[in-house]
Amino acid sequence: MTILLAGANGQVGREISERATKFGLEVVGFDAQGMDITDLEAIRRQAAACQPKVIINAAAYTAVDKAESERDLAFAINCDGASNLARVSAERNIPLLHISTDYVFDGEKDGDYIESDVPNPVSVYGESKYAGELAVAGHCEQTVILRVSWVFGQYGHNFVKTMLRLGAERDELNVVNDQYGAPTPATSIADTLLGMAEKMIKRPDELTIDDWGLFHLPSDPGVTWYEFAAEIFEQAEKVGVIEQKPKINPVGSEAYPTPVKRPRNSRLGTIRGTTAIEWRPELQRMLVKGN
Ligand SMILES: NC(=O)c1ccc[n+]([C@@H]2O[C@H](COP(=O)([O-])OP(=O)(O)OC[C@H]3O[C@@H](n4cnc5c(N)ncnc54)[C@H](OP(=O)(O)O)[C@@H]3O)[C@@H](O)[C@H]2O)c1
Repeated sequence: MTILLAGANGQVGREISERATKFGLEVVGFDAQGMDITDLEAIRRQAAACQPKVIINAAAYTAVDKAESERDLAFAINCDGASNLARVSAERNIPLLHISTDYVFDGEKDGDYIESDVPNPVSVYGESKYAGELAVAGHCEQTVILRVSWVFGQYGHNFVKTMLRLGAERDELNVVNDQYGAPTPATSIADTLLGMAEKMIKRPDELTIDDWGLFHLPSDPGVTWYEFAAEIFEQAEKVGVIEQKPKINPVGSEAYPTPVKRPRNSRLGTIRGTTAIEWRPELQRMLVKGN
């Protein structure tokens, strides 16, 4: 019942490792040192050793701004690395579950992005992730590509932790209010992937064409970064993580010039029936747990 997990030390990777037992699954996870996904032979070696039934790729280059000046590295990990995992999955005739991003879209659509919308990344990170999706789909037939957005959780770096840190340092914060999307708990992404892996491993007879391919993971409600920050401080005050919320001011993206343009709207919808996430209760659980 083994899953080979790449990127086991990331926000999502750690949740997958922790939550697998709930699904009756065993995870053999590797961080970047244990199994560098840009090294095809290293993946082959680890797969031969643990004989997985499924591979999950939670490894990625996720530094969106830095990617503009590290294009080769971003592509090596997000495209070539993903491609290597797909090759090994195909060689072993096992499924690959791969995670991708809302940043494959340019953000110019007015409604939610669905799976049939055509990607048009506006950043190196987005380009590298889209190239990874194409490589994965090209190498391995038994593939799931799950696009997620604005990931947060108890592990690693994310917007929730940044806001709490800045809120502790300052009485007043400016937060961007013209980029719209949806925060997604790392726990929910882990559960979605583990649910899919469980079916692939334990009930393969029930699998149909509807279980494969590209899926969006919608998360409700959609918000701007400013609205997300307001909810973080509201809840943090309520559960006693902070004594008093800072004043937060909505500002335009031009107030924070960054090396890369981010999509104006990257909210994900679905036509594939993926169960939508409610992120606010999970934010509360994270804040209570970390308290
Ligand atoms: N974070 C977001 O807001 C967000 C939004 C949309 C989609 N996503 C997607 O969601 C997935 C999970 O993201 P996350 O937030 O969990 O990312 P994360 O916390 O940055 O974790 C990524 C992990 O990948 C590892 N890694 C980097 N290069 C590697 C290599 N060559 N070989 C093996 N492992 C390597 C990193 O290890 P080191 O720490 O040692 O470098 C890190 O532990 C990614 O596919 C990402 O593109 C994330």
